[in-house]
Order: sequence, then C-alpha cells, then structure tokens
Amino acid sequence: MTGSKHYSIAVIPGDGTGPEVIKEGKKVLEAAGKKHNISFEFTDYNFGGDRYLKTKETLPDSAIIKLKQFKAIYLGAIGHPYVPPGILEVGILLKLRFSLDQYINLRPVKLYPGVDCPLKDKGPEDIDFVVVRENTGGLYTGHGGVTRKGTPYEVATQVMVYDRQMVDRCLEYAFNLTRARKEEGKPGKLTLVHKTNVLTYVGDLWYRAFMEMAKKFSDIETDYNHIDAACMWTVKNPEWFDVIVIPNMFGDIITDLGAMIQGGMGIAAGGNINPGGTSMFEPIGGSAPKYTGKNVINPLAAIEAGRMMLKHLGEKEAAKSIEDAVSYVCTQVKSLSACKMGYSTTEVGDMVAEYISGS
Ligand code: IPM
Ligand code: MN
Repeated sequence: MTGSKHYSIAVIPGDGTGPEVIKEGKKVLEAAGKKHNISFEFTDYNFGGDRYLKTKETLPDSAIIKLKQFKAIYLGAIGHPYVPPGILEVGILLKLRFSLDQYINLRPVKLYPGVDCPLKDKGPEDIDFVVVRENTGGLYTGHGGVTRKGTPYEVATQVMVYDRQMVDRCLEYAFNLTRARKEEGKPGKLTLVHKTNVLTYVGDLWYRAFMEMAKKFSDIETDYNHIDAACMWTVKNPEWFDVIVIPNMFGDIITDLGAMIQGGMGIAAGGNINPGGTSMFEPIGGSAPKYTGKNVINPLAAIEAGRMMLKHLGEKEAAKSIEDAVSYVCTQVKSLSACKMGYSTTEVGDMVAEYISGS
C-alpha cells in the first residue's frame, strides 16, 4: 500500500488481567490503523510473574538487547500474588525503565465527559493536566544501604540522587511539552513541584535549573508548589494545573492522586519515555489478580496507553480518533470500575473499535 506506515511493537501482556486488556488495546490499535493506513506487527514477550515462578528469571539482559530494537513497548501489567513484593517491580518494570533510559514518566490526567469525578463541582473543563515525572533518578536509584542489620542500631538510607543533566533533560522535556500544548490551545503553564523548604540541596538543584531554563522559554508561564501543597491544590483547584514537572518519588504519589480525579484505574494510562530510544506505554492499574479471566476489567486504560503510544510515534490523527472513541464510550458505560461497567471487557473494546471504524 503506498503511503502506508508500519510499526513493529513489542508487547509484554504480563500478569493477571494484563493480557485481557492488551488484547482489547490491540483490537483498537488495529481499528485506528485500518482507518489511517497504519499497520502493526506485534511481537509478544512473556515476562512477568508466571515466567518468574517457573524460571526464577525476571528480565534477562538478552531481552533488553532485543527490546532496544523497538521504538515502542506495549505493557499490560506486572504483579503476581505469589511473588513477594519488590521482585517483579524492581526486576522487570524498573529494570526496563532504567536500562532503556526511559527518563520521563508521562501521565495525562484528563477527565472525560460523563466520567464520575470524586471532586465536587469539578468537570472536564477543570481537569486536564499532564504530569511529567522524572523516571530514572531520585529515591528510585537504590543509592544507600544498610548497616548493623537486625540489631537495635540498624541504619538504613535511600538517597534522593539527582545530577544536573538528569534534571535538565527532564525539565527540557516538560517545557517543550508545555509549549506544544500551548500551540493546541492549552494555557501554557508549567509548575515545578518539589520540597525546597526541606530538601535544601536537591530541591535547590531542581529550582535553580528550572528558573534558568525558564529564561529560554519566555512564552511559558512558570509556577512552583511544594509537594504537600500541590496535593491540596490538585484536589481543590485542579484547573490551576496545565503541566507539572516533578521528581520521581513525588511524581509517583501525585499521579495516583491524579488517576483518582480523572475517574480511577479504569482509565489512567502512562508512558515511560525515552525521546530518542525505546518508550513503553502501560495502563497504570496493575494486574488485578482477582478479576483475571472474568472479562469484567475495564480495558480503557490499556486503550488509552495505546493512544499515547500512537501519539508518541507521531500518528496524531490516529491517536485523536482513539481519543474521540474513548470519550464517546465513557458516556456509554455505567461506571469505569471493574464489574460495574454494564459491559464486559471485550464489549468495551468492541465499542471503541466500532466507533473508530464507523466514524
Ligand atoms: C508506577 C508504579 C511503580 C512505581 C511501581 C510498581 C514500582 O507504582 O508506575 O507508578 O513506583 O513507579
Ligand atoms: Mn505508582
């Protein structure tokens, strides 16, 4: 086909309900692809809890080499009730983020029309911001250690590590994103969230880097919030936020808060971005083991992750057609929660795909 685009995508369906939602996500990507002359080749990788229980292997280095050959990875969920906490998170998810240098965690917080919001008197016009979470540094690097373990004098540290270039590259991404959103009619405001009143070294590094970079982006309005205050304001006045840039740990916390105000885990998706390398897109809800195989989990978050992946690949129109379809389907389902949608997982996937094909 002339003018057609082709993408090779690595898929890690993962654990629990991951494979079910990824199946619907692929269905929707195929529908959008058909409409916009895009074809996909999906290559599955079986990393996750089941594989770990059989082989004691999380993610071998050989897999990283293979995954680096793709521009994008589509991830379902990692997490298994029989695997102790930490093993899969560190051994698979964080290993992917670090070794593929996915230094941005991108989390759109957008309330679609018709979706129940726990905030009183707030609607879609109030909740439409993006969190740019630094994704490879800070408290997640594992710098630190333990001495005198098991004694009453045990000492443990885990350090918030940042160097200037890590901060700068994250800020630069955030400023550019704010500018791109401004061109689409959004406010063009970037808020740095940190804790400069206590973290006087690492907070100061971020603050100075932010202020310096702001000079190069004079078209962007800048603001600063401490993390504790930002948790209040995103609940009380979410309309104040356009783009938030934030270090890893604080970003982990505020993006879960964001997920709740946009309608919950049924809709929240994120991207782990390496702008020049391999990026990875995932619904953020986890593996939901108790719903596995029941066809009741909401696939919209995985579908949203697919939309983000298309946008990242530069397929803006195809991404927009998924957004329109998701927006429509949000008005059709009774709730975004598992078991309460009024439709099955596959029916929701079908509805989104059919809306795309029919529009
Ligand atoms: C997330 C998750 C991960 C994180 C966990 C599973 C390691 O909570 O993507 O937000 O803390 O980053
Ligand atoms: Mn998290």
